[in-house]
Amino acid sequence: MTAMESLIGLVNRIQRACTSLGDYGGDNNAFSSLWEALPTVAVVGGQSSGKSSVLESIVGRDFLPRGSGIVTRRPLVLQLHKTDEGQPEYAEFLHLPKRRFTDFDVVRREIEEETNRITGRTKQISPIPIHLSIYSPNVVNLTLIDLPGLTKVAIEGQSDSIVEDIENMVRSYVEKPNSIILAISPANQDIATSDAIKLAREVDPTGERTFGVLTKLDLMDKGTNALDVLEGRAYRLQQPWVGVVNRSQADINKSVDMIAARRRERDYFDSSPDYGHLASKMGSEYLAKLLSKHLESVIRARIPSITSLINKSIDELESELDHLGRPIAMDAGAQLYLILELCRAFDRIFKEHLDGGRPGGDR
Ligand code: GDP
Ligand code: NA
Ligand code: MG
Repeated sequence: MTAMESLIGLVNRIQRACTSLGDYGGDNNAFSSLWEALPTVAVVGGQSSGKSSVLESIVGRDFLPRGSGIVTRRPLVLQLHKTDEGQPEYAEFLHLPKRRFTDFDVVRREIEEETNRITGRTKQISPIPIHLSIYSPNVVNLTLIDLPGLTKVAIEGQSDSIVEDIENMVRSYVEKPNSIILAISPANQDIATSDAIKLAREVDPTGERTFGVLTKLDLMDKGTNALDVLEGRAYRLQQPWVGVVNRSQADINKSVDMIAARRRERDYFDSSPDYGHLASKMGSEYLAKLLSKHLESVIRARIPSITSLINKSIDELESELDHLGRPIAMDAGAQLYLILELCRAFDRIFKEHLDGGRPGGDR
């Protein structure tokens, strides 16, 4: 692992430890500033536009509930932690500490059950996020957030305010400047009606942190294509548009796996008369690479400010621990201590490997 990867990994772990501290990770302290110093990727779009499918493709694993209708009903904060080569891949939920999941079908079931624990088996939503961490040698250190889909009307079993509630929930994630927006629009609907683009335009008018993703290219009417969108003529963003072909519902029912789906997606672009000339810049794998390159540059630029935040946290933590003394709950004390240790490790790695007096370091 490179020093850069170690640093990003440490900040990921600090974020996670802050989250599990609850109140301590609250609003206006060095911990929350730390959380907001690192980019997160929020997946935004209309219901059934393909958000969960795109997210799974980026991770390269099947583990999310997907389907027609309102499936994602609570935010899922997904932290990917890159581990050393040869280490086993596993997942952990914040609400089930110490339990390691190695079967990703069980992860999917737990997401469904944990969703229902708060909302019941209804079509209601809840803003209380589910926190899931995946540890794997095959991921990049990254926080991704899957969100309920934007809708236009309340359906049977939903409150009248649901349309607004979802929009406000999604907005609260994408309005933060550290959030990178994956704006998902289905190609079989007019881009002018895209909920994702509408919201992205509102919170990121210059389009500098919005990646436009066009799904369902395979479902467009015969004789039409999406070149106007993919070539940036229909709606210009500073980042490129990426077209993808995810698994259809029939594929999901037949359990077509990720590898087969990726191969088919690649074939689709390579052999497409419309998109052949764009083939190397299309597809889920390309999207994942593009995103991780973008993240690395954002993080590189922020290392100096993260370092100073971490130093501030170390000071705060030391005085916090001094003040707390005995009466504090064991867990919280241990957690604070862990954060302190992680912050010290970050500071050490930064000084040893990256800080050659050059801004940004690591080159
Ligand atoms: P979400 O509601 O935005 O999270 O969307 P999902 O990822 O759950 O997908 C909704 C439905 O659309 C599922 O049945 C997917 O199989 C299907 N779907 C998503 N993307 C594509 C695509 O690119 N092509 C096809 N044919 N179906 C897709
Ligand atoms: Na859906
Ligand atoms: Mg979904």
